[in-house]
Amino acid sequence: MGRGPQSALDPGADHASAVYDLSLVLFIGGGAIFAAVMALALYAVLARPERFPGGRAWVYGGGILFPVVTLTVLQVYEFGVARRLSAPGGPDTLRVEVVGFMWWWEVRYPEGILTANAIVIPAGRPVEFVVTTADVIHSFWIPNLAGKIDMIPGHVNRLTLTANRPGTYRGQCAEYCGAQHTRMAFDVTVLPPARFADWLAGQGRPAPEPADPVLVAGRDAFLKAGCGECHAVRGTPAAGTRGPDLTHVGSRPSLAAGTFPNGVGALAGWIAGAQHLKPENRMPSFGTLDGETLRAMAAWLESLK
Ligand code: CUA
Repeated sequence: MGRGPQSALDPGADHASAVYDLSLVLFIGGGAIFAAVMALALYAVLARPERFPGGRAWVYGGGILFPVVTLTVLQVYEFGVARRLSAPGGPDTLRVEVVGFMWWWEVRYPEGILTANAIVIPAGRPVEFVVTTADVIHSFWIPNLAGKIDMIPGHVNRLTLTANRPGTYRGQCAEYCGAQHTRMAFDVTVLPPARFADWLAGQGRPAPEPADPVLVAGRDAFLKAGCGECHAVRGTPAAGTRGPDLTHVGSRPSLAAGTFPNGVGALAGWIAGAQHLKPENRMPSFGTLDGETLRAMAAWLESLK
């Protein structure tokens, strides 16, 4: 029960495991105490008074001593967990900045490497997420890896975690932020360290010059339609910063902040009908492009691995 790419009951990092263990202690302990109190109450109601010895000792013991001891122990445990989870990472920590937008995520790696809606991290190495927002309050949440953390205007929050096994997960905005709050998700991929280094090096490279004439036509149409006003594709004149950086958009598992699986068809559909598919998002629908242009544009974007 509870397994899956978006489940707090299937922890894949130290942070999520600590929260999971704390929850188990609270739920099981709370359930056991509740059952014991109910059983005692039932016994007190049904049994004759002489068969319920102890008198006031039950009141002092069960009403004062037991709660004080239990809650004190839990409090110390909980402070310990909270302290451990809020500790900053060491010198080996990878720093990843995430900025929330209505309704997508900008992800910044060291050395100016920029991506969007897809977070890739190495297994076994601490990662510090440094999060904020460009507009309203969002909440950054990868249930399998950590608890939620708010993204607050003009403020920076931090979250450090170490993923303990490679895998793919789904993150989701966890604070209502407008019409498309539901469609504000992202993909998280945990890679073995060597593959992570390859991925990061790849993301740092600009888009290659296309050789195929269809891809050339797609790139030219992208630039001509004015997409570069909002989107950047490093290696081309497109340098907009309002929308997601698309330099390696073809390498991302999904599109439009976790809304569709990525692919040529989804890209074409998104360009032509962004407002239909995700109403009120900041990208207009380019419904006047002819099919051939649209296909070429989508093919070029898909080739940007
Ligand atoms: Cu962003 Cu909800």
